[in-house]
Amino acid sequence: MSSRVKVMVTGAAGQIAYSLIPRLVDGRTFGDKIVDLCLVEIPAVVSKLEGVVMELEDSYFPNMGKVTYTDNFEQAADGVDWFLLVGSIPRGIVYEGKKIEERADLLKINGGIFVNQGKAIGQYGKANAKILVVGNPANTNALIGKSAANKDTQLWMAMTMLDANRAKSVIAKKTNTNINEVKNMIIWGNHSPTMYPDVENAMINGQSAGSMINDMQWVEEAFLPVVQQRGKAVIQARGASSATSAAKASLDTIMACENTTKAGDCFSVAVQSDGSYGVPKGLMFGYPMVRLENGRIEIKQGLHLSEFAKQKIALTTAELSSERDAVKHLI
Ligand code: NAD
Ligand code: LMR
Repeated sequence: MSSRVKVMVTGAAGQIAYSLIPRLVDGRTFGDKIVDLCLVEIPAVVSKLEGVVMELEDSYFPNMGKVTYTDNFEQAADGVDWFLLVGSIPRGIVYEGKKIEERADLLKINGGIFVNQGKAIGQYGKANAKILVVGNPANTNALIGKSAANKDTQLWMAMTMLDANRAKSVIAKKTNTNINEVKNMIIWGNHSPTMYPDVENAMINGQSAGSMINDMQWVEEAFLPVVQQRGKAVIQARGASSATSAAKASLDTIMACENTTKAGDCFSVAVQSDGSYGVPKGLMFGYPMVRLENGRIEIKQGLHLSEFAKQKIALTTAELSSERDAVKHLI
């Protein structure tokens, strides 16, 4: 295994990136590997990255390798192992005179970014590169990027780890357990209000969290809406989209992909559906994932889905299908 890893972060002058970048080189996310960073921004703000690099240099990170910054995505993509595609417009801001409230608005604005980035990743990224799309609407942006990259040896993912972390937090409070005791937390489908956080398959010390809670009314009326709408609640409270928790979830996703999943556990991320669990092939869908000892990353199979779960999964599947239809011209 290589002792160096090359990581690209787009949107590197943004909020999430400010919390994310230092932790890529702190010796935890990639263990003792030396981490080379390429930071990418749009031309209007790329010069701000000089300041980011100064701070990185001033922070003494023993594992930090070469750090470069640019507004040229294609050049930066050369030989990259991990692409963290954060760069895009968040909800809650005014864009061309209109307040951006819903993810559907973002689809029109952000979707196009991922065509050229996808092409460059397919052409210049490592053959086994992993790509984590954070910029919203993450699932469909990843679908656009993957289709433009057209390279099946690369693994395209869209982030649902933040939703899983949020769900774990709510379940831990409800069951009076520590958050680290909540395992097998799955977010099915879209990173949007239709996502289905699966309390029935979540496990606490070998027992189903659903059966411990034993209150489907609470699940339907409290748990699901809180997790599904948490992004909006943070925007309302903070006046800006979640940043430090999104950065932490990005790091958690990387670590989940880099380290073997413990028996009985899984992690949440969206990957392109191969038809597993009856989801139409091709959608970028939030699944339970495992990273095997040989490094392969696969959809965890064999989980039971109740009728309740199936109904909820059908809703998020329908939303992702309609998002795919809306970007047909880009894929
Ligand atoms: P931000 O506005 O602070 O930063 C975004 C940065 O992206 C800006 O600096 C902008 O210049 C840059 N950018 C825009 N287009 C780019 C391009 N083509 N190439 C490179 N850089 C580009 O926003 P933020 O708070 O950091 O959020 C970034 C994105 O992440 C938003 O779309 C937000 O909705 C999303 N998000 C996703 C999750 C998730 O769980 N998937 C969680 C939180 C936020
Ligand atoms: C989140 O879930 O916090 C982000 O996707 C931001 C948003 O727009 O909800």
